Amino acid sequence: MLDWNDPLATPTPQPATPATASTPTAPPSPPAAPAETLAPVRAEDKRVVNGLADINQLAPFRYPWAWEFFLNANRNHWTPLDINMSRDVQDYHHRLTTEERHVYENVLAYLTTADILAMRNVGLAVMEKMSAPELQIYQARQVYEEALHTWTYQHCIESLGLDQGEIYNRYRVVPAIQRKIAIANRRLDSVLRADIDLRDPAELDNFLLAYVFFAAVFEGGWFYNGFSPIFALQRRGLMTGTAEQLQYIMRDEVLHCAFGIRTCKQIMEENALRPDPAAVQAMWEEAHDAERDYAEYLLRDPILGYNAEDHLEQFRYIANRRARQLGFEEPFPGARNALPWLDEQANLRKEKNFFETRVTEYQTGGALRWD
Ligand SMILES: [Fe+2]
Ligand SMILES: [Fe+2]
Repeated sequence: MLDWNDPLATPTPQPATPATASTPTAPPSPPAAPAETLAPVRAEDKRVVNGLADINQLAPFRYPWAWEFFLNANRNHWTPLDINMSRDVQDYHHRLTTEERHVYENVLAYLTTADILAMRNVGLAVMEKMSAPELQIYQARQVYEEALHTWTYQHCIESLGLDQGEIYNRYRVVPAIQRKIAIANRRLDSVLRADIDLRDPAELDNFLLAYVFFAAVFEGGWFYNGFSPIFALQRRGLMTGTAEQLQYIMRDEVLHCAFGIRTCKQIMEENALRPDPAAVQAMWEEAHDAERDYAEYLLRDPILGYNAEDHLEQFRYIANRRARQLGFEEPFPGARNALPWLDEQANLRKEKNFFETRVTEYQTGGALRWD
């Protein structure tokens, strides 16, 4: 039996508890009267940031959509242990080409580092600045999901017997991965300071831009697009266990992106704030150039059914979508949908997955629109 006080201890048989005679107890005393009567919390006093309402009271909701995000997130619940990885072990060692192994390993090396960064951003820099509990509760779930994603990559890396130390260190020695991580770290560092006062318009503007970056670029662009090289292998019947893991992660990420964009729009509305269009365009172009380096490194030798040009064109196409969702100008007008199957991958109902690696069906998940 698991010892909940010491879960890592070897379980030991528990002796039977001897019966004890009950002793009389004093009757409970009535609850003490509050020192002062507080005014009821009013929904209209809540704000995304700089709110005036008591943060410890859930309802009345000012942002019922945030609660809906929390409920929907709980419909996509899995752990990496639920998915059979045995075919991937065979594929990795006996069916993938050298070029495909290069793609696979570097996608995992990038994603695992990026997901830790995403967790730190939400948990340490964003959540504490929210002043309505319904926003924080979804973000608490998001923090857990980012940790779950890190576990998932670790499970894939371990299942295939890859050198963990080498994979986890790759972002430090591969410039194309390092560049993306450095951009994200710069944004995170700018909002992960104890001295930030969001009543200062310049600080609020910077916080908004950092949140836009993480929601629309980091999660909605780099992550959304980042799974597709593995999905391209999946479409050829390769690495299907990993791909199924990533499909569950992608569902989480599109919710993270959608929630972040919704929250950013709310901040803009409540504070009559619009980020500088030139700064937003510069953000997109910096992200695009880093993604180009990454794609060229990842696909320096093309693999069957996937190439760097399509990867980058798809990034531009998705960037335009995120910009429209935010009410911003499209950063890359005319970009085309180079990977039309990617959206299908995000919206795939679990029961349509023909690889049959899992018996559980997610009917509730299938009813959702994941993007
Ligand atoms: Fe994640
Ligand atoms: Fe995320």
